[in-house]
Amino acid sequence: MPLLHVHDVAHSFDYPLFRNVDFTLDEKESMAILGVSGCGKSTLMHICSTLLKPEQGEVTLLEKNIYQHDDEARLRLRRYDVGIIFQSHYLFKGFFANENIELSSLLAHQDIEESMLKKLGIYDLMHYRIGDLSGGQQQRISIARILAKKPKLIFADEPTGNLDDKTAHDVMDVLLEYTEQNKGALLLVTHNQQLAKACTYVKHLHLDGLKEEA
Ligand SMILES: Nc1ncnc2c1ncn2[C@@H]1O[C@H](COP(=O)(O)OP(=O)(O)OP(=O)(O)O)[C@@H](O)[C@H]1O
Ligand SMILES: [Mg+2]
Repeated sequence: MPLLHVHDVAHSFDYPLFRNVDFTLDEKESMAILGVSGCGKSTLMHICSTLLKPEQGEVTLLEKNIYQHDDEARLRLRRYDVGIIFQSHYLFKGFFANENIELSSLLAHQDIEESMLKKLGIYDLMHYRIGDLSGGQQQRISIARILAKKPKLIFADEPTGNLDDKTAHDVMDVLLEYTEQNKGALLLVTHNQQLAKACTYVKHLHLDGLKEEA
C-alpha cells in the first residue's frame, strides 16, 4: 500500500502556484523536490503533511483521504504518523536540548535512540540550552525531535539549509536510514542537487506540476 498518494493537486495564493501535482510514495521510498524560490515547495509540503487543504485535488496518507476527514482524524495522523521538519525550526528556546527531544518522544510514547543522536552529531549537546546552540546545531536538534516520535512519513523542508557539506550528508544519511529501517517514506525539499540524488525520485516543481527537468 502507498504511504502517500497525491492526486491532481493544485493551489494558488495571490497567483497560481502549481497544478497537476501527482505522485505516490511507497514504503522505503523518498522524493526530493527542487525548484526556484517562491515556486510553492513549502506550500506543497504543507498540503501533503495535513497542514493546508489544497484548492483542488486529493491527498491520501496511510490510506486516509485527509481533507475529507474531520479535524480530529487529521490531528491524530499529524500527532502520531507525520513528522514535519520545518524550514524554520521551532524549538522551545528557554529549554535544554534533551527536554525538547524528550517532549516529543513522550507525547508519542517512544524511546529516544542514542545511536540516532550520535549519528546526527548532537549526542554531546543534550545539556545545552537551545539559545546557546548554533543555527546548524539547533537544526539537527529539531530533526532529532521529529524522528524521536517515530513517524511513518517525514516531511523535511530544507533540513540541511544551515549545514556544511559533511554534516549535510550525515543528516541526509540519517533521514534515509530512518526511512529504510522504519519502512517509512520521506518527502524532502532541498536546493542541493547532490543530496537530492540520494533519493528514490528527484522532481522539479513547476506551474504545470512535478517534472524530471529543471
Ligand atoms: N499563507 C500564505 N498566504 C499568502 N501567500 C502565501 C502563503 N504562504 C505562501 N505564500 C506565497 O506563496 C508563494 C510560494 O511560497 P512557498 O513558501 O511555498 O515557496 P518556496 O518554493 O518554498 O520558496 P523558498 O525556496 O524560498 O522556500 C510565495 O509567493 C509566498 O509569498
Ligand atoms: Mg520554502
